[in-house]
Amino acid sequence: MTAQLIPTRRSFPADDPIFALNAEAMARKAAGESVLNATVGALLDESGQLVVLDSVMELWRELGTMEVAPYAPIAGDPAFLKALVRRHWPQLDGPGAACATPGGSGALALSLKNFLEPGQSLLTTAPFWGPYATLAAENGMGLATAPWPEAGGPLDAGAWHAALRQLMKRQGRVLLWLNDPCHNPTGRSLSAEDRAILLDLLRGLSSLGPVTLLLDFAYLDYTREPEAVEAALGDYAAFGAEGCVLVGASLSLSKSMTLYGARCGAIAFPWRAEPALQAALTQSCRGTWSNCAKAPQSLLLRLEKDGKAQARLAAEHRHWSEVLAARAQALDAALAAEGMKALHWQGGFFVTVATAGSEAVCGGLKAEGVFTVPLPEGLRVGICGMRASEAPRFAKALRKVLGAS
Ligand SMILES: Cc1ncc(COP(=O)(O)O)c(C=O)c1O
Repeated sequence: MTAQLIPTRRSFPADDPIFALNAEAMARKAAGESVLNATVGALLDESGQLVVLDSVMELWRELGTMEVAPYAPIAGDPAFLKALVRRHWPQLDGPGAACATPGGSGALALSLKNFLEPGQSLLTTAPFWGPYATLAAENGMGLATAPWPEAGGPLDAGAWHAALRQLMKRQGRVLLWLNDPCHNPTGRSLSAEDRAILLDLLRGLSSLGPVTLLLDFAYLDYTREPEAVEAALGDYAAFGAEGCVLVGASLSLSKSMTLYGARCGAIAFPWRAEPALQAALTQSCRGTWSNCAKAPQSLLLRLEKDGKAQARLAAEHRHWSEVLAARAQALDAALAAEGMKALHWQGGFFVTVATAGSEAVCGGLKAEGVFTVPLPEGLRVGICGMRASEAPRFAKALRKVLGAS
């Protein structure tokens, strides 16, 4: 035990649980076993290689010294922030109060520092991306949840109303992280009706105290339903423009550009250009990572000026969205063949098989050489990392393990 570590920092697991599962899957594969590894959180091609978008890498290779080496401004290059926000909301003329962050994770962390007091809790959906809880804990905060709708089912408006009101009553302010559309880990988006209900609840809540809605847009470029994503973006823009709730977005180049390792993104509040909000965000940047990497910001500026590269990128996103759709469809067909429910993927890198006792089921699957990530609500299956042809094996193994439990 390192005595220098303060007591509250002494009992963390040695490895992130998802990375540990992935490492175990890789080790068994390296030892010659046939392994189906659905724990991966990055997009892999049919031969298991990391997908890197060619249109992006070509721009990356063109970057000159002065686009890479100098410090970027503390809050990020204003032109980069504008270009990033306009990828999703082209009708806007500026990013509002915004700053560059190391990926979406940085944006999420900054929202905690600025919109909640230590000891308070953010609200998000159950299930959620596991590191949300880590981000909250690292900032001395808690995490409360309200249920994501089941496939084909409606939003539980009663549960959402209760969760929102309870937090407002307890702490006088609410910060909601909403990973919609293309939710990790369910692979589904809110329906237009559910979104309208949720936004109306937030509208009502805002008369009781300050409410911040941070939209986590990690996976928007990978969807079966680009029109529905567009419609959702329109709904959120209209809600942001109303002004009763502070609406912002956590934007990331990790998945959208396959620049996971470049660590670039932004937090932006396009409908609020208040100097005090901007100053608070800039201060957080300075006091946390000082400033962010310049190269990925420069790349986005090149992309913004290059119509051909934009068209190629859009075609690559379409292609990989089709690949993901084919994998999801194969999985649904295989589950149906084994008498289980379809998962109805709409976007993102994952689907979730709802099941009780997910730790035990995950253990049973591991014995079959099938690796998934256990969540309280079920098993997260990374369709980003598995081939469509592996779907029948997955469904058979699941049927066997569930039948035995
Ligand atoms: C839902 C969700 N939000 C945010 C992130 C953050 O990723 P990054 O910090 O690389 O942008 C991830 C990454 O897996 C994610 O799944």
